[in-house]
Amino acid sequence: MLEADLLVTDIGQLVTVRGADAPRTGGAMSELGIVESGAIAALGGRIVALGSESEVLDTVSAGPGTAELDAGGRVVTPGLVDPHTHAVFARTRENEFAMRVEGRSYEDIAEAGGGIRSSVRSVRQMSEDELFSRGAATLDRMMEFGTTTVEVKSGYGLSLEAELKMLRVIARLSELHALDVVPTFLGAHEFPDEYREDRDGYVSELTRRMIPAVARAKLARFCDVFCERGVFSVEQSRAVLLAAQEHGMASKLHADELSAFGGAELAAELSAVSADHLICASDEGLKAMADGGVVAVLLPGTTLSLGKREFARARFIIEAGGAIALATDCNPGSSMTESMQIIMALASMVMRMTPEEVLVAATINAASAVGMERSVGSLAVGKLCDLVLWEVDDYRAIPYHYGVNLAASVVKRGTVVSTRGHGA
Ligand code: NIG
Ligand code: FE
Repeated sequence: MLEADLLVTDIGQLVTVRGADAPRTGGAMSELGIVESGAIAALGGRIVALGSESEVLDTVSAGPGTAELDAGGRVVTPGLVDPHTHAVFARTRENEFAMRVEGRSYEDIAEAGGGIRSSVRSVRQMSEDELFSRGAATLDRMMEFGTTTVEVKSGYGLSLEAELKMLRVIARLSELHALDVVPTFLGAHEFPDEYREDRDGYVSELTRRMIPAVARAKLARFCDVFCERGVFSVEQSRAVLLAAQEHGMASKLHADELSAFGGAELAAELSAVSADHLICASDEGLKAMADGGVVAVLLPGTTLSLGKREFARARFIIEAGGAIALATDCNPGSSMTESMQIIMALASMVMRMTPEEVLVAATINAASAVGMERSVGSLAVGKLCDLVLWEVDDYRAIPYHYGVNLAASVVKRGTVVSTRGHGA
């Protein structure tokens, strides 16, 4: 008998999301692979057994070194994956939030020197150590809410030096924080002040100098672009993403957030791993993404925080056979939250995604949106033992009971990293 490091028993609903390590599309987004009266065991950070409690206890035993969790008949799911965040930043921007509440638009505030460029000024001034400790505090909060893998973008540096500084902070978080961190280079987040009058000049700085340097330093797995009216055109976005692909970075896009701009179409053309936002994406663009296997990362918290009422068309994407993932977009400008739980609730309430679809979108599909589907995003033997023990006895309560933290215990690589006392 195998002696486990971690053994979780008496699980009322063990939501495995089992199946292929690939994004779930269309109707398959409703399949959760639930085991009732389940148990799960880990050794060396990986799952060694899961299934009905009697099956698991036939192969695994608890010894003096085993951490045992009694789920008390409640729900266990895979750890949540947050596939789109700007979690490393220097200062919050509640002043801009207040302006938006009074009616100013995000674009207006950006034009007036606020927005991303204000975050750039503060990041350039802040030390690497200070950025690291702020980033770590943000990741701690994400973890308390059930996130066990997170993508973090650069993009508040916008010069070679400051972007490398951000990426080094992200690499340090990846090394030192319990969460798994996936790094994305977002040098094409905005045009820095020094290139406002020479936009193509910044694009060639990105393609000729910054992307090769980031690749040499091995600091990013993905390259992302803010492809939008007033920011990077489709042609400029294509140039940046192709240069990054040549240097081994797969593509992601901020696409069609504020206008129908051709970002979804470009994502399909370039076989991007994901295109994100998509509020204004065209029917053709969304269908091309579904056909090309590009994951649609939807960020309903951003829409609400920007004071808008028009959301990405989740039902259209699912009916077109596409795959949806959900993310916080955690950033000081347009979505100041660390909680995937509130995003899951919003996805149900405002985009009419079912509780099953929401869970798939926050686990295996989110993992697929950051290239991590083989190690996380579902519960199966051999995968990392990342899971959440929820304070509910029916998984449908996860998007239903909103605005509170329902994660009783969070397990990362077989170790309990967050507990809320009255949970397990
Ligand atoms: O995803 N759209 C661009 N980037 C972020 C906003 C970043 C900021 O305002 O600081 C987003 O919403
Ligand atoms: Fe973003």
